[in-house]
Amino acid sequence: MIAPSILAADFSNLKHDIEMVNSSKAKWFHIDVMDGVFVPNISFGLPVLKAIKKIAKKPLDVHLMIVQPERYIKDFKNAGADILTVHFEACTHLHRTIQEIHAEGMLAGIALNPHTPVSGLKDIIQDVDLICLMSVNPGFGGQTFITKTFDKIKELKQLILETNSKAKIEVDGGVNIKNIEALKSYGADILVAGNAVFKSESPKKMIDSLHDA
Ligand code: DX5
Ligand code: ZN
Repeated sequence: MIAPSILAADFSNLKHDIEMVNSSKAKWFHIDVMDGVFVPNISFGLPVLKAIKKIAKKPLDVHLMIVQPERYIKDFKNAGADILTVHFEACTHLHRTIQEIHAEGMLAGIALNPHTPVSGLKDIIQDVDLICLMSVNPGFGGQTFITKTFDKIKELKQLILETNSKAKIEVDGGVNIKNIEALKSYGADILVAGNAVFKSESPKKMIDSLHDA
């Protein structure tokens, strides 16, 4: 499953890029929300999400790179999020936050920074729908894929099997046509791609090639 990251789209012509994704083999829209505190960059927030929701014909996979994400769960639901992912490093009461996301009727995900070990998920893996392994340091698109991620996918796959968890594995950052086959073979279910898609000559063809790879 491919989830194009809107962060790399043309913000002066979002409608065009959203319609392109609608007509492609992509499964989800990946939406990166950054607060300038959890990560050094600020992207966009609720009003932009609401605007995307009006045109998008596929689920919105919202990746919150913000501190205290529990303060905004309802707001993101109301703005149109279908999947809400919070960072492991940003949540003191992660279990409660996951419960609150589910109570709002969304799928719940946990994102791990590159330095955060998969083993820390042991006691929560059965409660989530998605684990997002960051394969770059969050904050910016267009960075180089960190190859250590391959080991983390393997380890996570093992943990999911051992615990009978339903969690899907998402990989986010530096995904491209060169590493996608390996990522799939290690067990990644959802591949986020920003620059690889939107900076290519034909974004729609690229999504379809990533999907078919
Ligand atoms: C990084 C974001 C990613 C980013 C991926 O903080 O979470 O979703 O948009 O962009 P690329 O694919 O260009 O690395
Ligand atoms: Zn992301």
